[in-house]
Amino acid sequence: MAEQKKLLRALAGETLDTPPIWMMRQAGRYLPEYRATRAQAGDFLSLCYNSELAAEVTLQPIRRYGFDAAILFADILLLPQALGADLWFVTGEGPRLSTITDQAGFDALKPVDAIHETLSPIYDTIRILTRELPSETALIGFAGAPWTVATYMIAGRGTKDQGPAHALREENAPLFDALMDRLTEGTIEYLSCQIEAGAECVKLFDSWAGSLKGDAFEKYSLEPCRRITAALKARHPGIPVIGFPREAGEKYVGFAKATGVDCVALDNSVDPEWAAAHVQTDGCVQGNLASSHMVTGGQALIDDTRRIVKAFSKGPHIFNLGHGITPDADPENVQIMIDTVREK
Ligand code: CP3
Repeated sequence: MAEQKKLLRALAGETLDTPPIWMMRQAGRYLPEYRATRAQAGDFLSLCYNSELAAEVTLQPIRRYGFDAAILFADILLLPQALGADLWFVTGEGPRLSTITDQAGFDALKPVDAIHETLSPIYDTIRILTRELPSETALIGFAGAPWTVATYMIAGRGTKDQGPAHALREENAPLFDALMDRLTEGTIEYLSCQIEAGAECVKLFDSWAGSLKGDAFEKYSLEPCRRITAALKARHPGIPVIGFPREAGEKYVGFAKATGVDCVALDNSVDPEWAAAHVQTDGCVQGNLASSHMVTGGQALIDDTRRIVKAFSKGPHIFNLGHGITPDADPENVQIMIDTVREK
């Protein structure tokens, strides 16, 4: 029964003896089996759109570690690609996209109902996973939050301070708002289809929320997350939503109430005792071990893991890293983290 999966119980607000655990970027380059399958697919994007192989890499960390949840293997930048942006990855550097800087660039984007043409292999990956995952493992779907996706579409790449996106929202608000609207509507459609294919929970990654200050945070992080969550809950009652306004700092307080998400994911700059007192009071939290421990290991990894488990032990909690695991991580440290959480 779906309700018995530990991840879904925590998301429903239950305090468990041992928190469920999964890891951001758990299917990734730190695993030799991932590197082998990616080589077989050719490159990262070919892997994302090859449903059989994408399901295979999603399953690899489940087989190796027995995580409580699997996260669909895909990327937040597939939605812009489905809307008509060019997308490619430069090895060792990261994503590159065609940029949107003016009205003509925006007008060239496809309408929301065209996205499924590109994204249907992703829904097929989910269908395969619903058959192949162990019965106790929950399946998480995901998308980028509109602000974070917009920062890549405007700059054409990852940026340190999201300068080009901030400049556009200040200099041409109608254009920026139109792009945010298209992304919000597209995200609702994309996540709805992921849920219809079998995702049991969805996560919104607002990785660059931390650079939105004051009213801009409310307008461009909180409000789109609220709209997406409300629309998904109207269409798919009972499907939980995890919000990740990374580096939101004090803005984590009240984020779940204001957006309607069932859980907020915390980055590792957040003090766990502080978050237990000010964020977990509104419901489930997820996080927040520094991913650098997966590289360095040792007693500090064990001590910090225990500290986080203890700090959040009086309420609903999903154990995770504060950001994605990096390619230089030692797979053995992941096992140590899991054993420490489960105190084997
Ligand atoms: O977590 C998982 O295992 C599921 C799959 C997943 C990927 N990306 C696979 C991926 C998820 C949930 C994402 C989210 C994502 N993608 C975010 C939000 C989370 C975050 O990290 O802040 C962002 C900003 C992206 C965009 C993106 N994709 C960047 C900036 C990069 C390059 C940086 C890097 O790590 O190489 C990617 C590539 C990417 N996405 C990889 C993976 C496994 C590495 C690609 C490879 O195999 O070469």
